[in-house]
Amino acid sequence: MSSAPAEIVHIVGARPNFIKAAPVTAALADLGIRQSVVHTGQHYDDRMSAVFFRELGLPRPDVDLGVGSGSHAEQTAALLVGLEREFTERRPRTVAVYGDVNSTLAAALVAAKLHIPVAHIEAGLRSFDMTMPEEVNRRVTDQLSDLCFTTSPEAVGHLAAEGVDVGRVHFVGNPMIDTLLANLGRFDVAALTERLELPDDYVAATLHRPANVDDPATVAALVARLHEVADAVDVVMPVHPRGRAAFDAAGLGDHPRVRLLDPLGYVDFVTLVRGSLAVITDSGGVQEESTILSVPCLTLRPNTERPITITHGTNRLVTDSELPGLIGKVLAGEPFGDRHDSTPPLWDGHAGGRIAAILAGEPAQ
Ligand code: UD1
Ligand code: UDP
Repeated sequence: MSSAPAEIVHIVGARPNFIKAAPVTAALADLGIRQSVVHTGQHYDDRMSAVFFRELGLPRPDVDLGVGSGSHAEQTAALLVGLEREFTERRPRTVAVYGDVNSTLAAALVAAKLHIPVAHIEAGLRSFDMTMPEEVNRRVTDQLSDLCFTTSPEAVGHLAAEGVDVGRVHFVGNPMIDTLLANLGRFDVAALTERLELPDDYVAATLHRPANVDDPATVAALVARLHEVADAVDVVMPVHPRGRAAFDAAGLGDHPRVRLLDPLGYVDFVTLVRGSLAVITDSGGVQEESTILSVPCLTLRPNTERPITITHGTNRLVTDSELPGLIGKVLAGEPFGDRHDSTPPLWDGHAGGRIAAILAGEPAQ
C-alpha cells in the first residue's frame, strides 16, 4: 500500500469519459486536491483516446491498464481484475467514475467491494431500455455510488424511485457542456471547412449504437436512407470504429455526396457539428452538444436517457425512414420539431467546479 496521502482517482476508458473528466480534474487541481487518472484502455486508437488528452488538458494517465476490446464478459472481467489490483495498491480516498460505459460499471463494482467511496458523474439518466448495455451499467453504478452527481432535474426522481438516498444526490449541471463552453473559441467553422475541403452546406452524421450498426440488414436499410439524404445534401460522417466494417460493406461511402472520415478529435468534431445544417446521430454526447449549439439533432433511436435535450433543446427522436423527409424540412427552412431557445438548467459551464467542491469536502480516508 502506498504511504502517500490518499488521492481521488478518476477512471476513464472511452471517448465520452475523457470529455466529462476534463473539467472535473481541472477544478480539483485548482483546489489543490491530490488526484490521478487511471485509463482502462477500453478505447485505445489515437483518435479515440490520446487526441482528447492532447486537446483538453486532461492530466496524463498514471497508468493505462490496456484492457482493449472484447465481448462484454471478456472486457468487464479484464477491467475488474486490472482495477482491483490498481485500487488495492493506491487505496484512493474516492473513485470518480463517468457516464455509463463498461469501465464505469467495473470501477464502481471493484471500489464498492474494497469499501472505497464511489462518485458517479452523470448519475440518474435512464432510457428505460434494458436492451442497451449503458442502461445496465447506469443502474448498477448508481446503486453502488456514495455520491451521485446529476446533469438534469429528472435524474433525481429516477434515483429516488430506485431507492437511492437523495442525500447522496447532487444536481450539479453537465461537465460535457463545461468542456463545450470552455472551448467555444476554438470551434472555427471557416478554418475547418477550408482544411477538410467541406461543402458550405452539409449534414453531419455519427452512429455507433449496437442497435444501429451491429446487424448487417439494419445497416443496409440505414445506408439506403442516408443515400436518400445525400441525394439532397452532402453528408459528412466521422465513422466510429465499431461500425466501420459494416458501413463499408453496405457501401455507405459509394454515394458521391457521402464523405466518410476517420473519427475526429474533439475540437474538429464539435466544429463540424457547429457548421452543419443538422446532425444525424445516436450519440448521447452529441444530443447535448447540439442542444447548446442550436443545431437540429435527429436522434436515430426509439428513446433517449436525455429527454431534456428534447424539451429544452433541438433534439428529436426519429426512425430511419423519417430521415429524408425531416432533412428536407431542415433544407426548406421549415420548423424542425419543437424548437426551444431555453438552456437546460445549470448547463452553464460550472459543473466541474460544483463537483470538485463537493468531492473536496468529503473526508479523506
Ligand atoms: C463504448 C460504450 C458506449 C459509448 C461508446 C462511446 C460500453 C458497453 N459501450 O461503445 O456506451 O457510447 O463507447 O464511443 O462500454 N474499437 C476500435 N478502437 C478503439 C476502440 C474500439 O477499433 O479504440 C472497436 C473494436 O472493434 C471494438 C469496438 O470498437 O470491439 C467496440 O468498442 P467498445 O469499447 O467495446 O464499445 P463501443 O461500441 O466503443
Ligand atoms: N466525438 C469526437 N469525435 C468524433 C465523434 C464524437 O470527438 O468523431 C465526441 C463528441 O464530442 C461526442 C463525444 O465524443 O459528444 C462522445 O462520443 P460518443 O458519441 O462516442 O459517445 P456517447 O456520448 O454516445 O456515449
